[in-house]
Amino acid sequence: MVLAENNNTLDAIVIGGGPGGYVCALKLAMLGKAVMLIEKDRVGGTCLNRGCIPTKALLQSGELFTQMKAAPEMGITAEGLKLDTERVNAHKQKVVDTLVQGVQGLLKARKVQVIQGEAAFLSREIIGVTLPDGSVKELSAPNIIIATGSRAAMPPIAGIDGKNVITSTEALEVETLPKSLVVIGGGVIGMEIGTAYSDFGVKVYVLEAMPSILPGMDGEVVKEFTKHAAKKMDIHTSALVKEIADTDDGQKRVVFESDGKPGEAEAEKVLVATGRVPATDGLGLERAGVKTERGRVLVDDYYRTNAEGVYCIGDANGICMLAHAASAQGIAVAESVAGAKCGIAQSIVPACVYTDPEIASAGLTEEQAGEQGIGYKTAKFPFRANGRSLVLGKTEGFVKIISGEKYNEILGVHIVGPHATELIAECALAMKLEACVEDIANTIHAHPTVSESIMEAAEGLLGGSIHYL
Ligand code: NAI
Repeated sequence: MVLAENNNTLDAIVIGGGPGGYVCALKLAMLGKAVMLIEKDRVGGTCLNRGCIPTKALLQSGELFTQMKAAPEMGITAEGLKLDTERVNAHKQKVVDTLVQGVQGLLKARKVQVIQGEAAFLSREIIGVTLPDGSVKELSAPNIIIATGSRAAMPPIAGIDGKNVITSTEALEVETLPKSLVVIGGGVIGMEIGTAYSDFGVKVYVLEAMPSILPGMDGEVVKEFTKHAAKKMDIHTSALVKEIADTDDGQKRVVFESDGKPGEAEAEKVLVATGRVPATDGLGLERAGVKTERGRVLVDDYYRTNAEGVYCIGDANGICMLAHAASAQGIAVAESVAGAKCGIAQSIVPACVYTDPEIASAGLTEEQAGEQGIGYKTAKFPFRANGRSLVLGKTEGFVKIISGEKYNEILGVHIVGPHATELIAECALAMKLEACVEDIANTIHAHPTVSESIMEAAEGLLGGSIHYL
């Protein structure tokens, strides 16, 4: 039996220190378990180091820059406004480092043992960790949690491996910005990085394979968002990318076909944002007998793989590639392992896009309600009829609620507009508590707040909003 550093046997080994893995390790430790966390890089994973957090820091700088340009409208005139990309980058890095140090501190305080190294299954029972000096340490525990995350998918496009073709990881380093950027993929990453770059003054082209950007989101929300995004970015939908080539003057040329018509976009750099794939290769899963399907680890409702005592959480199981879903799964697994309760994390998972305007949703889209044959009603309340939104100077967008035709249960809420990503929490809670539209409409919302728009949308389903005809 391999012993933990404190000479106790290990209860669990967590492979991967992202928001799935580190949260799972912390929860296990809080429930009294001896846990070892193996991370090859820095704790925090993609989310803290190369994803959610640095993207939001860049978006915040970009939004401030844009707002300051519009500040004279609110009576503030600033002279000599200029973008300092080195400081934008430094601010982003400071936020990232602060959070990573915070996680390191929590792990230490909770007595989670952390090993830096690359883990692989040598058998179902034994994990080999290749340490930075090349030596291999063998560990074992009755419970092993795979939380290795995902990496950018690279579609088979000619020239995709060329110079100046980047993924979101490189796009987050903004000391020197390109003058122009072609984004392949109009999903969440494409829209967020496209927004930040265009706020910084970069000319952005978006090439999306599907008939609309952000496929899978509520159609009306996408339509409204596209109206605003198209003012900042040159968006081409139904775009089939054929080739990425180099021009004689050192630019990239992306050749595509959009709605059957040939097109070309030239820029200094090309960002590939066509989705992510589970990062499970090299883990030796076959030696542990763990079943996978196109790289994703197959799990049951309790995130158990087919191998006894082996779990998989987060992007690696491909169920829902969102940081907060990974954390929720990590807590559920920790509780199962500790025997506290047998939890299924997934019920209502809000999804947020930190663009301008912001987008947030929870529950079914109108399209999904229709496909499932559910009888439903919808109501929308526009932010232009909300006082606080007017004060903020952010009147674009709306709150849309989809409710059951018969019982007024809330099936889905979709918001595009100011503070959407914060407003969705109320809606997710309402859905988790199985609240009805009446419950939201009858809850007093403070005035003046943007949140009144949710109450007003609920009123819209019950005979009419007070402040909207
Ligand atoms: P995505 O799945 O959101 O979007 C990829 C887009 O690329 C899709 O619209 C797809 O139709 C398009 N596409 C695929 N192949 C293409 C091609 N050859 N040419 C043109 N378009 C093509 O994936 P994305 O944006 O890369 O994000 C990866 C994951 O990270 C997602 O699961 C996303 O939810 C998550 N994420 C979440 C964030 C958030 O919660 N705010 C932020 C960033 C990422």
